[in-house]
Formats: sequence, structure tokens, C-alpha cells
Amino acid sequence: MTGTLVAPVDTALAGRAVQVKVPATSANLGPGFDTLGLALARYDELEIRATATAGVVVEVHGVGEGEVPLDASHLVVRSIAHTFERAGVALPGLELVAHNTIPHGRGLGSSGAAIVAGVVAAKGLLEGVVDFTADELLELATELEGHPDNVAPALFGGLTIAWVTPEGPRHKKLIVHRGVSPLVLVPEHEMSTALARSLQPESVPHEDAVFNVSRSALLVAALIQSPELLFQATEDKLHQHYRAAAMPETDRLIQALREAGHPAVVSGAGPSILVLASDPSERAAATALVERVADTVWQALPLAVDFKGATVVNAER
Ligand code: HSE
Repeated sequence: MTGTLVAPVDTALAGRAVQVKVPATSANLGPGFDTLGLALARYDELEIRATATAGVVVEVHGVGEGEVPLDASHLVVRSIAHTFERAGVALPGLELVAHNTIPHGRGLGSSGAAIVAGVVAAKGLLEGVVDFTADELLELATELEGHPDNVAPALFGGLTIAWVTPEGPRHKKLIVHRGVSPLVLVPEHEMSTALARSLQPESVPHEDAVFNVSRSALLVAALIQSPELLFQATEDKLHQHYRAAAMPETDRLIQALREAGHPAVVSGAGPSILVLASDPSERAAATALVERVADTVWQALPLAVDFKGATVVNAER
């Protein structure tokens, strides 16, 4: 049972409304497969209202407009429904308006953001009725996403280390060194996370596992204290080369960026590239290099680290 019921449930949720803002995220960060994640200052924003009329009304503006479903199968609605169900509270009718800016299918945590939007919207709508702990919010979001590395930074902001225990997923939030200047390079094509995950082998050589243990430990130090170590700290042998054939241009550009000394990695399951630059001039150099050598159009997004994570404001009662 998730959530602690703190007051009797009545039908008075109708009329409650929340405004939710959730950041994009980049997971893995090179060696930290399914573990490390970074919140980035690009957001999906939603207004969600509980109504007395059963059913859902969904409106989507921006990214996903005309593409995502506008019924109960919309991911934010599914996440709200999941949270209400786990809390043991009947779902009211819902009106949802989304203003999306996080690219879909590009490795920037759009599905994690939608899931987190639903979980924190439900928390806001249930304020005074059900209390959720931070661990419970992460558990609810991870149940839908399957792994915690995107949903943890989307919920809590900053750099997050996420791990799974028999009692559920847990996280530690860290504040990123202010010298770290993330740059995300986004191609026009998408990549399916399910396809990327299907390319992972069942087991890996022991020396590769040791390689990644050392680099991911180093990466945490590099991101919070020693950005000069970011290049060495972003090496990986656990996932990127297994998936490279499915995103050849991503692979080629990462090699070119790394040969030029930039700490470039696949963002999440790809196909976007994350460069953990050490200053704004490195961002400009990496952007120019990609413009020079890419065969297709890549959008350069210099993004700050988001330190707050998802926010929810109760708009009216
Ligand atoms: N850790 C995940 C993966 C992130 O690389 O498959 C994408 O959801």
C-alpha cells in the first residue's frame, strides 16, 4: 500500500486543480547505466483539474500535439490513475491541459516526465487526504517507468543516484558543480527505449563491470567537485557500444566529440547526445564540431541543471 490515508475520502475532490512543472532528464551519463540521472532546465507544464463528471478530457500543446492519445491511455492520466489506485482512492473525472517542450523519443526523459507529472499531480489533488513520502513517489513513478534513473531526477532535481532495494527504489540527490555546463544535441529521428534495451546482453565481462564501477564512482566526484575529470569519468563499457549499430550517427558524432576532448555520451537510451561541458565556450566548440561533421540536422540545446525537480502548486479548491 502506497500513501498514508490521513482523512476520510469523500467526493469533494471535484474542483481541486493543480499546476505541475517537470524537468527533462538525461540518464546514464555514460557509465551510470540505470543509476545516474541529471535534471535539465527544459520543462513540460500541465494544469490538471478534478471534476465531478467521470472520464477524462485531455488537451496537448507543443511537443506531442496531434500525436499522443487524448483519452485515458495518455501517459499522465495513466500515472494519475495508478497513483489513485495504489492510494485506494476512487479516481475523479479529470481535465488535463499539457504544454510540452521535452522532445519525445530522444533520450531526454519525456516518458519519465509524464509519469512524474501524473504522480505529483495526484499527490497535489490528494493533499490533506493522502500523504506520500519521497520514497513512495519514487516507487510509484518507477513502477510505471521500469527503472528509476530518469524519474528520480525528474522528481527531485539535480544529479541523482538511484538504486533498487527489496523495499523499493531509493535515491540520493547531489548538487552539481556550477562549472558543469550541459549541452544536449538532439537529432530529428527517434529511438525506442525498448529496442535499445533489447540490445543489451544478459551478462558482461567482469573487467567491463569493474571498468564501469570505477568510472561511475569517478563521475559522481567529477560532477559535484572536479569537472576537470569529466572526460575520463564519462567512459563506459556497459551499454553504449551494444546499442551503437541502432544509432550510427550518434555513435559517430560521440567518437568525433571525444576525439576532440569533449565528454560526450549517449543521453539516456539515445539518440540524443549529452556533452558535459566545463564552460560555455566548450559548448560552442562542441556545437560547431557537430554542425561541421553531422550528415543530418541536430538541434543544440545548452541547458542549465535543474535543481528543484518537479513542482506542484494547488491552484484552487
Ligand atoms: N537507463 C535507461 C536505458 C534510460 O538506458 O535504457 C532510458 O530510459
